[in-house]
Amino acid sequence: MHPVPIVTLKSSGRQFPVAIGETVLEAAQRAGVALPYSCRAGVCGSCKATLLEGRCEYPRNPPLALDAGALAHHAVLPCQAVPCGDLLLEAREVASVEDIARRQLGVVVAAKWRLAADVIGLRLLPDRGERRLRRLPGQYLDVLLEDGRRRPFSIANGPQRDGSIELHVRHVAGGGFTSWVSDVLEVGDRLRVEGPLGTFVPREDSERPMIFMAGGTGFAPVKAIVEHFIALGTRRPMRLYWGARSAADLYLRALAEQWAREVPNLAFHAVVSHPALAEGLRTGLVHEAVLADQPDLAGHDLYMSGPPAMIDAAHPGFLAAGLPEERLYYDSFEYAPDVLAAIIAGRAGIHDD
Ligand SMILES: Cc1cc2nc3c(=O)[nH]c(=O)nc-3n(C[C@H](O)[C@H](O)[C@H](O)COP(=O)(O)OP(=O)(O)OC[C@H]3O[C@@H](n4cnc5c(N)ncnc54)[C@H](O)[C@@H]3O)c2cc1C
Ligand code: FES
Repeated sequence: MHPVPIVTLKSSGRQFPVAIGETVLEAAQRAGVALPYSCRAGVCGSCKATLLEGRCEYPRNPPLALDAGALAHHAVLPCQAVPCGDLLLEAREVASVEDIARRQLGVVVAAKWRLAADVIGLRLLPDRGERRLRRLPGQYLDVLLEDGRRRPFSIANGPQRDGSIELHVRHVAGGGFTSWVSDVLEVGDRLRVEGPLGTFVPREDSERPMIFMAGGTGFAPVKAIVEHFIALGTRRPMRLYWGARSAADLYLRALAEQWAREVPNLAFHAVVSHPALAEGLRTGLVHEAVLADQPDLAGHDLYMSGPPAMIDAAHPGFLAAGLPEERLYYDSFEYAPDVLAAIIAGRAGIHDD
């Protein structure tokens, strides 16, 4: 028994210590080991790993992303799991993000424009004297609010020479930050951000065809990853599905259609869930369109990003269609960890006095 718990990753043999009260994910990040994650709140399941030896507890949020079947198969959520002693874990590692340290920087709003009725586009530039953020396409950043809370947003462009960062911000009804972005934020205003975050990044260790599925502003990181593969000149087939409630909500449809015209191995499918607002486009749920066109996903890599309801509906369907779980890469656009913790605590009848 060690003075602090040691986590060993079975496939790579790498080990790292976990400080008292720290989660497995926090300890891994401190040690420079990149485990997959998205919501950091125990709800999306993208960090899921298998516990081979040892025991964990969940003093923060309960592991809501694990159902009874997953728990019976010793699944754990490293973003919430605090070890009770040494652990042996079967976990995926995302080597490509490992050598990029996250950091904070000041940015200036260089442009603000309306993409759709409830979506604002922002272009942020590093503030004077700031270095540009090193990052990979598809990663996200946290906007740091003055009271210490954070709001996560995916970066919609790949790394740029001038350090510019593009965001697509959907206005959430009753949401503090996104209402402020929509109504108050102006060009020239300054923000503080931290990044890069997340492991939703291009995987280049395969020749398999790729499917990209986005819901609403989930198009943002998918755009960055697709643009990366186009710039690489990949010959791998790419099928892009973008779903939204109305045709007007597919706010960069012209860009996706242009890709489909100009890139021989890329096909684009727009899918609208509200038939009355489809303007002649295909109707239905976007993950059902993917499954209707590709009933056998065994030979694919699949990237998806968007609202939690879409991710939750698609996940079991894609696995049932033969997609191996380790080739399903996703970011679920959950609310920020502080809001999810408050909602979960309220749901469980727990109150901080
Ligand atoms: C990895 C990741 C990437 C993301 N990328 C994007 C992106 O590119 N584009 C995008 O548009 N979105 C993205 N999101 C989602 C985005 O972060 C949220 O929509 C945003 O944080 C909302 O912030 P807000 O301050 O406006 O709303 P919040 O103030 O956080 O409120 C959110 C909702 O919760 C309710 N609420 C707040 N507090 C409580 C409480 N205590 N109890 C009950 N209900 C409460 C509010 O009324 C509101 O409906 C991403 C999320 C993640 C996790
Ligand atoms: S459940 Fe762990 S990152 Fe979402």
